[in-house]
Amino acid sequence: MFDVVVIGSGPAGYVAAIKSAQLGLKTLCIEESTDEKGNQNFGGTCLNVGCIPSKALLDSSHRYFDARRNLDNHGIVVGELELDLKSMMKRKDDIVEKLTSGISGLFVANKVKSMSGRGRVISKNIVEVTKHNGDVDEIEASNIIIATGSKPIEIPVAKFGNHIVDSTGALSFDKVPKKLGIVGAGIIGLELGSVWSRLGSNVTVIEALNDFLPMTDSDISKEAIKEFKSQGLDIHLGSKVTNAKELKNKVKVKYINDDKEIEKEFDKLIVSVGRMPNSSDVISESLSIPINNGFIEVNEFCQTSIPNIWAIGDVVRGPMLAHKGSEEGVMVAERIAEKHNQVNYELVPSVIYTHPEIAWVGKNEQELKDEGIEYKVGKFPFAASGRALAVDQSSGFVKVISCINTDTILGVHVIGPAAAEIVQQALISMEFGASSEDIALTMFSHPTVSEAFHEAALATDNQAIHIGNKRK
Ligand code: FAD
Ligand code: NAI
Repeated sequence: MFDVVVIGSGPAGYVAAIKSAQLGLKTLCIEESTDEKGNQNFGGTCLNVGCIPSKALLDSSHRYFDARRNLDNHGIVVGELELDLKSMMKRKDDIVEKLTSGISGLFVANKVKSMSGRGRVISKNIVEVTKHNGDVDEIEASNIIIATGSKPIEIPVAKFGNHIVDSTGALSFDKVPKKLGIVGAGIIGLELGSVWSRLGSNVTVIEALNDFLPMTDSDISKEAIKEFKSQGLDIHLGSKVTNAKELKNKVKVKYINDDKEIEKEFDKLIVSVGRMPNSSDVISESLSIPINNGFIEVNEFCQTSIPNIWAIGDVVRGPMLAHKGSEEGVMVAERIAEKHNQVNYELVPSVIYTHPEIAWVGKNEQELKDEGIEYKVGKFPFAASGRALAVDQSSGFVKVISCINTDTILGVHVIGPAAAEIVQQALISMEFGASSEDIALTMFSHPTVSEAFHEAALATDNQAIHIGNKRK
């Protein structure tokens, strides 16, 4: 009998398992994924085919692009550049291997037991595990944590095949597609579109909605589309794919834009229109745990309708982000151990790892207007930041939004250099209930791009030093 059985070893599941074991609970983690040699593959989407490999390729492709286009004005002249895609992919695969095998080490160190196979909750205290050889085991547990994650959505008009691929396929092309089509201008479309565009693909992005990145602050989305278009991404908003057909070495795509049917041919087509939770056949129907649109229903503590069965990460409501799943894993482990942790869902930071980087935390202007909350805005452009100019990354800005009455920071939105890191500073301040004045009174190192956060906080009161404030 285990105290805790976790199903799934992604960033939600493996963190929940390690934390449970650290709290003295006898813990087992069940994972169905295996590598070519049949070894268990820990780490889920994030480590294997998500966050980590995509960031490895974003970094490599950025270096290549920089070396090709942006070194001349530094007085650095390089000879003919060559792309060795095989080595770039090997570097990515080595990082993935290092991190995924690291989880086995962490499990051993923390005394988490693991089992290979497919887990299914068949009663309040029993998980059935179907092994790869077909054998079935039944494991008893006082608590069960479901962390089975998500998978790419396939659309009927563009079924996955050899040239129509999901994000996993797009992380391992063996050559740079000359013409690359992407369905969906979401986070994956923009990150992976950037990777292949920097490596030389001609990229067309087909997005159904008229709005670009509607989850971001509208000032950010306006700046972002301008930047991406200037980088050569051909973005078509309000465009509906009606058919995508694989030919011998090509994909023929038809889509409708402004009532006109457009036909284009691509070497590869990435379909990145969102992800769906892995909840089918994970819980026996006899338990009657509600599942809504594929998401297992849970309360704010990730508890299902059966109190000792919990669900965390992409398989439950909320943003599909690794850090959100991990924090839920920690919370659930602590609650099982009768501690009183909770997740602050108001402050889940988001980052799009393009260039410029985009990051935000808290509310945007549209949300505050909808909620009828009065606010003030301070904006500081990186064009006025000495460090941003020195590192050649002076596009974009920091935007701080705070409450008009209390000055409490309600949201911080950044597009530009080190946006993700600046937003972590904002996040910490906001967790401690900081006001814009608190940031304004803080001394920042000079020269850093973080000074733009300081100046944006000052700007909420028209006090920024390095921009021309209009005086009444
Ligand atoms: P998963 O990581 O999906 O893990 C679920 C695990 O459960 C898998 O290992 C699966 O094999 C296993 N499993 C499923 N069913 C069973 C079963 N019945 N029995 C046993 N095992 C089972 N998020 C970020 O925060 N930052 C990023 O930069 C980022 N980049 C991304 C890039 C890409 C290309 C993609 C696709 C995603 C990215 N994400 C990113 C999202 C992130 O990967 C997910 O939010 C995160 O992996 C979800 O964690 P999870 O543990 O809930 O599920
Ligand atoms: P997404 O939800 O970010 O974007 C999907 C886009 O496709 C949306 O703009 C949507 O309007 C569009 N779309 C939907 N159906 C369409 C259709 N039929 N035709 C054309 N466009 C269509 O989903 P995405 O990019 O697949 O990523 C999935 C999730 O993975 C993200 O929401 C995020 O949670 C996570 N992720 C996070 C990253 C990060 O944190 N940096 C990086 C990559 C993924």
